[in-house]
Amino acid sequence: MAQIQAIKGFADRFPAESRLFQLMEDTARKVFPLYGFGELRTPLMEYTDLFCRGIGTETDVVQKEMYSISDSKGRSMSLRPEATAGVMRAYIENGVHARESVSKFFTIGPMFRHERPQKGRLRQFHQINCECLGPKEPEADAEIICMMMDFLGRLGLKELTLQINSLGCSNCRPKYRATLHDWLAGIGRDKLCEDCARRMETNPLRVLDCKVEGCRTLTAGAPRILDNVCPECEAHFAAVLRHLDAEHVPYQINHRLVRGLDYYTRTTWEVVSNNIGSQGSVAGGGRYDGLVAQLGGPEVPGIGFACGMERLALLMENSITPELSPDFYVAVLDETCKDAGFALAQSLRRAGFAGMLGYESRSMKATMRQAGKSNARCTFIIGPDELSSGQVIVKNMGTGEQRSIPCSEAVSSLGGEN
Ligand code: HAM
Repeated sequence: MAQIQAIKGFADRFPAESRLFQLMEDTARKVFPLYGFGELRTPLMEYTDLFCRGIGTETDVVQKEMYSISDSKGRSMSLRPEATAGVMRAYIENGVHARESVSKFFTIGPMFRHERPQKGRLRQFHQINCECLGPKEPEADAEIICMMMDFLGRLGLKELTLQINSLGCSNCRPKYRATLHDWLAGIGRDKLCEDCARRMETNPLRVLDCKVEGCRTLTAGAPRILDNVCPECEAHFAAVLRHLDAEHVPYQINHRLVRGLDYYTRTTWEVVSNNIGSQGSVAGGGRYDGLVAQLGGPEVPGIGFACGMERLALLMENSITPELSPDFYVAVLDETCKDAGFALAQSLRRAGFAGMLGYESRSMKATMRQAGKSNARCTFIIGPDELSSGQVIVKNMGTGEQRSIPCSEAVSSLGGEN
């Protein structure tokens, strides 16, 4: 019979890899609360309209990457391609803004984008996502960037580049857009790639982050947004950089960094690695001061970022120490000893030790081979003799030392390191 395979771009994660994901999650749950963030879990599916209005109908994500279905009333619903829009919906719908002036949430979980799968790019991928709603001050920008770098640093990831830019605000960006559009028209629409020729009209800023070499060369001299922002945006950005300098957070200003989602204003950034191939952006974020209002809420500014967990896992694979060995392996030499073996393994676990039970009764030689494979630091063996005398053989797998002890001393023989 034909085998059923996983959907293309949807991956299985076996324990060795899951461990990396757990480490990221544990680190997030340790670091983010230091900055006042609490975990918010939102649905994996939302009405499609939320993503159209939130992310922008002209973005690649909304135009071609969403997994959408209709409910029985014909309303379109989509698997979330990112977390921000859902967090905003939850924030507005639950009236959180009326209760607190600053709200900080983190979200961990799967996102879905129908992109072409490749190394570091999946159709179901996972993000660790943070959103801070309320403050408009540049201190909030610097603080969340510091938190993100703190998080990445605690994962042992050091060779990363923080690229940063400002996208201006609703006052200055339209003027810059027009300036850029006219400049692009000057070099000739037909000289740009097909995507850029279209984007030039719909969202000319996206032309700046086109990956096509020809477009990059042609637009090398394009007017820079930082030379065109209003004095307020300029001061805001300068303050963010001042705080990053004071905290010794290195960054590169990237004048072409515009991000692929429409909601960004002012400070935007990406964290890039050169060690995982072409999909090197491991985190991205920025300020989105108009988004809450655009989704029907009050005028509340916001800022956030998301890390791609699969990409972080690619970076961590080489730097993480091998899995710690389990504490014990319990083996029985005879069917009659199985109950005692089962009870011993359970009592060791109750005491906080981790380990495995050998289900089959085997010869001593076969038992030791299995125990060796389990990588446990101690093996407990119960045979008929031990059963009748209330003893257990304990073998230290590191030193090879073996002795008989009363069963009641098994827990203490493992020491107090659990
Ligand atoms: P984004 O840049 O679209 O931003 O995604 C953030 C990160 O998710 C990327 O830097 C990348 O590491 C990872 N990522 C994105 N797509 C894929 C994929 N197909 N496969 C694997 N990893 C992927 C956002 O999603 C914004 N919502 C971030 C944000 C939060 N901005 C403000 N708040």
